[in-house]
Amino acid sequence: MRDRSASGANMLSPRQAVRNIPSYHPPLAGRDGLRFDFNENTVGCSPLVLERLRRLSPEDLARYPEREPVETKVADFLGISAAELLLTNGVDEAIHLLCETYLEPGDEALIVVPTYSMYRIYMMAAAAQVIGVPAGENFTFPFEALKSRITARTRLIAIANPNNPTGTLATQEQVMKIARAAPEAAVLVDEAYFEFCGQTMRGKRRELPNLFVARTFSKAYGLAGLRIGALMGDAGQMRALRRVSSPYNVNAVALACLPEAIADQGYIQQYVSAVLASRARLERVLEAGGIEFWPSQANFVLARAGLTAADAAAFVEQMRRRGILVRDRSSDHGCEGCVRITLGPREHADRLLRALQESLHELGRSQGASQR
Ligand SMILES: Cc1ncc(COP(=O)(O)O)c(C=O)c1O
Repeated sequence: MRDRSASGANMLSPRQAVRNIPSYHPPLAGRDGLRFDFNENTVGCSPLVLERLRRLSPEDLARYPEREPVETKVADFLGISAAELLLTNGVDEAIHLLCETYLEPGDEALIVVPTYSMYRIYMMAAAAQVIGVPAGENFTFPFEALKSRITARTRLIAIANPNNPTGTLATQEQVMKIARAAPEAAVLVDEAYFEFCGQTMRGKRRELPNLFVARTFSKAYGLAGLRIGALMGDAGQMRALRRVSSPYNVNAVALACLPEAIADQGYIQQYVSAVLASRARLERVLEAGGIEFWPSQANFVLARAGLTAADAAAFVEQMRRRGILVRDRSSDHGCEGCVRITLGPREHADRLLRALQESLHELGRSQGASQR
């Protein structure tokens, strides 16, 4: 039914599908302190990118951005043809475009729960029926359960690999089997955290025309503020996605910086190996402290700060008082009492672990957690 104003006149109203979407407000305001709450790079991008930013001219900004030349460079870097690649305004836009391209109202779209929030939002905006398949024990990828929910109406399956917020990984074989079992569905493998785990479906993609692989430059590359991601898929399917996408979806500053960012692989490798060392340190400390956590393949770790949502909130607050932001994930499926902690390099891990011990002590939960 259309909305009516108090006077009874017809009013503009969003589509029903849009009205059904729960509002999602990531806690971005007042993020003072060390930001270990959004899985961003905690130190920033390569100096080559900063150098390129300084060289931007007024003319660079006055012109509409030209995506194709940079797409060719990124495609070369990824070892695919430019026709198989679309640069997007972050992976978020890639998810949105897939929903717009493949979902009719009432179609079924599958996700694992818990997972990245934006899948559900864009699927709902397309008026799809979103089916959340609970993760297995210890948040393992629910391969059998997901496969069993594929029907003749399934048109999109989104798999974050590694998953956010759990850090767990589906195997290549599992993903291939899912994609084969749903040939009429677009299967998105969202590799936003690829650099921290090394497993990719990129090489397998050509075997399956319904498989899409997304990458972001928001995490390891430290460019979340520029909003840039890459979607890979079958050239024919990518043509359909290009019809939906704005020709100017990626801004000129991001396009100017991206070639510098991918050229500096030394910087990425150094950052990633520092983060992996910090992740191992945090996991050792959590283990020694008897704090439940899930071994992660990404740049964050999900840990149980307590049994209830109030325990998680109290821990987040204790950390915040010590200048460290971590993310409360209590409201995610199966995550009551859980927090997600992003890792940075050594000096950030030092500060994180110090604050962690003090916070646990304050909360009376310091059973032997010590810095390693
Ligand atoms: C699994 C996953 N995909 C995509 C994104 C968003 O990526 P982008 O910044 O490229 O839109 C995130 C960010 O947290 C994520 O965790």
